[in-house]
Amino acid sequence: MHFHKFEKIWLIVGSGTLIVFLLIIGINAFAMGHTPPSEDEILNPREVDTTPPFDEPGLKKVSENEYELVMVAQAFTFESVKDLKIPKGATVHFKVTSKDVVHGFQIPKTNVNMMITPGHVNSITHTFDETGQFLILCNEYCGVGHQAMGVPLEVIE
Ligand code: CUA
Repeated sequence: MHFHKFEKIWLIVGSGTLIVFLLIIGINAFAMGHTPPSEDEILNPREVDTTPPFDEPGLKKVSENEYELVMVAQAFTFESVKDLKIPKGATVHFKVTSKDVVHGFQIPKTNVNMMITPGHVNSITHTFDETGQFLILCNEYCGVGHQAMGVPLEVIE
């Protein structure tokens, strides 16, 4: 089989780039131990309902104007949390896990944006300095009901 000179160059550049990328990912994952965030807190995704704190999801006050919001993501809902109301100025520590697939966790108009990976405790903290209606939504395509996956959060005076 005859290859034109330029074809050969492209083949070498193309496969060379692929090998370099795979090497970078491989070294990152296996030699440098790069994993998804929250590696230190893992759980069995099949035992979410019996693993604290996910056995009792919901909003808990932990100190003056500081809250912990434990949520379980599952196609296609953020199970068991509703009527979320927090006072203005409150700091909320979100702790979220997934029972099934990878979901997203974003609150538009804030910096809250993370990936919810099953088997991991995914956490993020945010202080709500302004009142208003917020929406916690899934921004990672997770199936046919993805667009309906969200829960409102209200910041009151
Ligand atoms: Cu969950 Cu998209």
